[in-house]
Amino acid sequence: MPTSCANGSTASPVPDDAGRRGQERADRLARIQRRFAEFAAEYAALPLYSALCRNLAGDAETASLLLAARPGQARPVLWLAALHELVLRRADTPAARWYPSVVGQDSVPQGDPWPDVRRTVLEHRDELVERIATSATQTNEVNRAVYVSVGLAAAAADLAGTPIALVELGASAGLLLGIDRYTVDLVGADRTVTLGDPASPVRCSGVDRAEVGAQLAVGPVLPPVVARVGLDLSPVDLNDDDAVRWLEACLWPDVRGRVERFRAARALLRPDPPVVLAGDMVDDIDRAVWRARDAAGTDAHVVVMSSWAITYVAAPRRLALETRLSTLARDLSALSWLTAEPPACAPGISAHDLREDGGGTVVGLRRWRGGRELEPVVLGTCNPHGQWVDLSLRAVDNRTS
Ligand SMILES: C[S@@+](CC[C@H](N)C(=O)[O-])C[C@H]1O[C@@H](n2cnc3c(N)ncnc32)[C@H](O)[C@@H]1O
Repeated sequence: MPTSCANGSTASPVPDDAGRRGQERADRLARIQRRFAEFAAEYAALPLYSALCRNLAGDAETASLLLAARPGQARPVLWLAALHELVLRRADTPAARWYPSVVGQDSVPQGDPWPDVRRTVLEHRDELVERIATSATQTNEVNRAVYVSVGLAAAAADLAGTPIALVELGASAGLLLGIDRYTVDLVGADRTVTLGDPASPVRCSGVDRAEVGAQLAVGPVLPPVVARVGLDLSPVDLNDDDAVRWLEACLWPDVRGRVERFRAARALLRPDPPVVLAGDMVDDIDRAVWRARDAAGTDAHVVVMSSWAITYVAAPRRLALETRLSTLARDLSALSWLTAEPPACAPGISAHDLREDGGGTVVGLRRWRGGRELEPVVLGTCNPHGQWVDLSLRAVDNRTS
């Protein structure tokens, strides 16, 4: 209703600061609840997380915890990770029994988790808000070893037997740096080809859509990795239980095998963890490359890789990274740059001709030999967690064509 002013004119009510803030909060909360609804629809196949998000979409009191998130961080995965961290730490909370990562895949009860989850959230509201207000999600996905190992074999196709100094940009806890210590099964239509250590307690696997395993069986195999150095803005120490628990909490507990694989990889690498330097992938890349090269020897083949990391860097910084690498190449006998990133992210790797297959991850390779760059190669696409790969080595290894 219009209000009458002292001078007799009429005007709409002007909300005071508190009213405006209240409206902004209500709008933000509505957006957050919409995101929970979208998450539930997109991941309907995940029994626990889709059920939680469906309920959160209609429950303002529990969804509102996400209002505490830092700008740009108010995403359902942060809320879900905060609660997951709590139940990993406190198996005595009512919600914990619904988590396969706490009780085991086969001990999760049938029924509706929401009453137990809601109770837990409201009882631990303050610590969950604190976690949401101070954290961002971070991952280290071990099954990405499936496409990284194919990429590594491709990078080394012309340098069989030359020791590798492996450098990972955005390495998180460095779990992918242990790639040659895992079993990687490429599951083709007729046969499974295994890379890495077949006796490893860490098993990674992906469906091999283009039979790249058959090419590997007659062509290059994984070269020896003799030095490994990671670089990350927020490196995670494998011996820091709290930090590792947060990484684990950011995994989705009802994706079968994901948490178990993460734990197995941590246990394997923990006694002698790979070095992960704190630093920026553009500003500090020289430090990481020289540390790895010095440990491996002058003739080593330096392979710089990134998987779902360059995508977090602004486009002009990606070009600065490309410039750094081509400059470094002048002083290295062999340098390869292996990228597994979203389309149009890695400089010089064109995804133009790739068919749209829903993978959203393009595996590309750039190589400098004796300071001169060879033709860039697009190996193909894959699922971002390595569940399938559609890759070919034909462009890098003429023995397989
Ligand atoms: C999605 S995680 C991927 C981790 C790992 N590569 C994997 O595939 O499991 C991205 C990582 O990149 C790191 N990161 C983001 N921007 C970075 C930068 N400018 N320099 C170094 N690391 C960065 C983050 O801290 C995070 O650990």
